[in-house]
Amino acid sequence: MIEYRNLRIALLGGGSVGAQVAALLREHGDELASRAGAGLELVGVAVRDVNAERHPPIPQHLLTTDAEALILGADIVIELIGGIEPARTYILQAINSGADVITANKALLATHGPELFDAAEQVGAQLYYEAAVGGAIPIIRPLRDSLAGDRVERILGIVNGTTNFILDLMDTKGESLESALATATALGYAEADPTADIEGYDAAQKAAILASLAFHTTVPLEAVHREGITSVTPAQVESARKAGFVVKLLAICERLVDPVTGVAGVSARVHPALVPLSHPLASVHGANNAVFLEAEAAGSLMFYGAGAGGIETASAVLGDLVSAARRHVIGGPGVAESTHANLPVLPITSVTTRYQITLSVIDQPGVLATIASMFSDHGVSVEAVAQSVSPATVVVAGTDEPRATATLVIGTHEATEADLAATVAALKSSEVVSAVVSVLRVEGL
Ligand code: NDP
Ligand code: HSE
Repeated sequence: MIEYRNLRIALLGGGSVGAQVAALLREHGDELASRAGAGLELVGVAVRDVNAERHPPIPQHLLTTDAEALILGADIVIELIGGIEPARTYILQAINSGADVITANKALLATHGPELFDAAEQVGAQLYYEAAVGGAIPIIRPLRDSLAGDRVERILGIVNGTTNFILDLMDTKGESLESALATATALGYAEADPTADIEGYDAAQKAAILASLAFHTTVPLEAVHREGITSVTPAQVESARKAGFVVKLLAICERLVDPVTGVAGVSARVHPALVPLSHPLASVHGANNAVFLEAEAAGSLMFYGAGAGGIETASAVLGDLVSAARRHVIGGPGVAESTHANLPVLPITSVTTRYQITLSVIDQPGVLATIASMFSDHGVSVEAVAQSVSPATVVVAGTDEPRATATLVIGTHEATEADLAATVAALKSSEVVSAVVSVLRVEGL
């Protein structure tokens, strides 16, 4: 029997993820010790209420409300409280007391990441966060280590399970956003405040983390363009499918050159997008996540799996624990965050992409030509137009006669955000357009 040095593990948080980490650590402690080369002794679990029911249960003697005392005696601290405070203060205390830290806290990393990484670097501690993006999916370590010799060009990620679950139910079952959200909440996928999911805040935090890692550049959360899914309608989802697309909330991180200024930089954005049914991301169903990545040498890679869930996320946390323990055994400084490239972070207006615009128009001769000229006047090139007769009629101002309408679905070639916005503004004020029904970006073609 090998005698290992014992490492003292402090767990902050005994909720959905924390309780699973505690249970798996007790269940598989010997096996993990063999992999880490050190015994992993869970010395305590800090919570708010030591009498609350926990799933799975945590032995009562491990529970405490004194997180600070727990941190001071620990070799490795696992932060699974979530939110900004007191998580930030506890992590800084842990780092400054010489412990390595593991966290799943995307909200904290996206807003205070540089402060935490600097603190860790100063004392030679390590900050691990595999669970912060994509739950169980290994994506942080592949970006930091496996792809360190390559050049990541672009990431298209489905990184929020709740919104993918909702859009999937809208697509496959024709459900409304509200009823699909109620199901997602009942199944425990959504954040405590589901606004974080449906308005894209959670995905934006993850986009900031991914873009910073992928491009060796600090990408602040404020620089991530964010649109949620609340304006996506069942009709849009249905017409997307008929046209060979599925609507997904994507986190897109890419290198790009601003078409006007010529500045080369990176950008990160989160918004609903049309994804061709033939793209691998189109087959990501339910609450699953996937990160589709294009690198210069590796080509296309996709990382897929459970993006949320207590036990699934605990898998990533325990992987970090084994890595942290190995480093304690071997010694040496931690790996610092790589921000050497320090590229300009460009706004959404620097982005060029394709669009699909759905219009309700007056059905009369010459309308198509009028609309086509509005696109060309603003430098937007039309790739395809599909027209269908609409059962709806409109009454044009100044007349009493109801007029027949048609639905036009217009696909564009790549255009800038600014040109597209000017085109949409012109369409909205045109007499022949009764409604701009939807404007969606098309990604993954
Ligand atoms: P929960 O809300 O289920 O658990 C939070 C835990 O923190 C609870 O045990 C709570 O104690 C404890 N806690 C809260 N405030 C304090 C405090 N001031 N001092 C001590 N303990 C405190 O969160 P999750 O387990 O779902 O999430 C944990 C982290 O993992 C978050 O950062 C989250 O974003 C991240 N994450 C979660 C995923 C998931 O699927 N759940 C997926 C990926 C990441 P008490 O139980 O007594 O209230
Ligand atoms: N609410 C998040 C999601 C949990 O739906 O993906 C995982 O971060």
